[in-house]
Amino acid sequence: MPMSSAPSQSAEDYLERIHELIEEKGYARVVDIASSLEVKQASVTSMVQKLGELGFLNYEKYRGLILTDKGRAVARGIQQRHETLARFFSVLGLDAETQQSDIEGIEHHLSPATVAMLADLAQFFEDHPATRKQFLKSRKSVKR
Ligand code: FE2
Repeated sequence: MPMSSAPSQSAEDYLERIHELIEEKGYARVVDIASSLEVKQASVTSMVQKLGELGFLNYEKYRGLILTDKGRAVARGIQQRHETLARFFSVLGLDAETQQSDIEGIEHHLSPATVAMLADLAQFFEDHPATRKQFLKSRKSVKR
């Protein structure tokens, strides 16, 4: 997988999670990254090294891992895409737990054009609550 221009899927997962940890706690430790991605610490160490070589993050002795501007920009893009998908699934009434695991599963595979279309569709349903209601009521697979 070419990592030079765009990060690989798994590199995206790491950048996303590191960014989230830094936002939540102020730092991202290898042990926390490993437990939240359910991978071994050794895998985190080697990915962190790779991401460092590619200029997405740095290791500073007292602060730990920090994202570079480039790393932060990529992480924000990943985060925004995740939020767009969450908005889309929410407007269509999908529960938060299913959303979270499904978004993690698909987010790296969608083209920007698809994400933009889903954002527009979410916007459309937000702007047309009656239509949204009609859709939700029409769903055959939901028992009510
Ligand atoms: Fe995500």
